[in-house]
Amino acid sequence: MDFTKEMEAARRMAEDRLQQFFPGGGLEEAMRYSLLAGGKRIRPVLTMKFCEAAGGTPEEALDFGCAVEMLHTYSLIHDDLPCMDNDDLRRGKPTNHKVYGECVATLAGDALQAAAFQTVLSAEGTWRPGEEQCMVLAGRILAEAAGFQGMCGGQYGDTIGDGSLHTEAELTAINDKKTGALLRAACMMGVAASMGRRAVEDGCMGAAGEYASNLGLAFQIRDDMLDVMGDAGAFGKPIGSDASNNKSTYVTLLGLEACGARVLDYTERAKAALRRGNWAGSTAFLETLADSLAVRKF
Ligand code: IPE
Ligand code: IPE
Ligand code: MG
Ligand code: MG
Ligand code: MG
Repeated sequence: MDFTKEMEAARRMAEDRLQQFFPGGGLEEAMRYSLLAGGKRIRPVLTMKFCEAAGGTPEEALDFGCAVEMLHTYSLIHDDLPCMDNDDLRRGKPTNHKVYGECVATLAGDALQAAAFQTVLSAEGTWRPGEEQCMVLAGRILAEAAGFQGMCGGQYGDTIGDGSLHTEAELTAINDKKTGALLRAACMMGVAASMGRRAVEDGCMGAAGEYASNLGLAFQIRDDMLDVMGDAGAFGKPIGSDASNNKSTYVTLLGLEACGARVLDYTERAKAALRRGNWAGSTAFLETLADSLAVRKF
């Protein structure tokens, strides 16, 4: 397996499909601005690769993956607003509200969230007779990940804090919701996409969720580290945002060195969880992806 080539091919597929949404002006332009600003596309890549691991093809999961990316982009637009992290740079470009104003940025986020569910529920595909409900399953997974039990709940815990130090258990619970939930949805929706066309081994859905939970914790700790030690040019967002917002993060709690060890530990746990699934296809890419995210610079 050539990881870099496979990653680029999957990222390109997601990118090309995302280009096809929201071609108009006005609100659509603001939605497109952030959606096409050049993120890593980790979430749609995960959706497609989990569909493949569960015996399917990347094409079968493409629209589900794009839906997760829309929901993720909405979360970033709102996360950057002055009432939240008040950041000016995202994906290497001025944040949505810096370009379009707070009102339009709020609406662009709202509309991307609705579009995500529209995309799940109108995903193109040749479902097996009676298996169209895999769209419903995917929609339910995404709704749970987006709402109070997931990303919004995590953002609430992250933003409402008064800067006093969280315990590690509290931080883990917040990060599991604000970041883990959407990554979990991305992975599990890939398995759901595969289920629409074939029987998928019991245990794959659980293994996908467990992989993503650990990957999510590693991912957010690495993000908090890069907020301190990253290079803004590479990272594409401001360095020191957490400190300027007086955020209690893993870095403030444990320091950079211990954070690095936690990232590696959660990454190993993610890979171990993956190995517990009885997969029809290869999971080599997903293991290497976890390793590469543990040392990412952006
Ligand atoms: C940023 O997510 C927000 C976090 C959950 C830390 P990504 O690091 O995946 O951002 P993009 O999509 O590549 O811009
Ligand atoms: C928030 O975490 C992640 C979301 C749910 C949007 P951060 O606030 O640390 O994300 P960045 O660093 O701005 O991308
Ligand atoms: Mg934030
Ligand atoms: Mg932020
Ligand atoms: Mg951050």
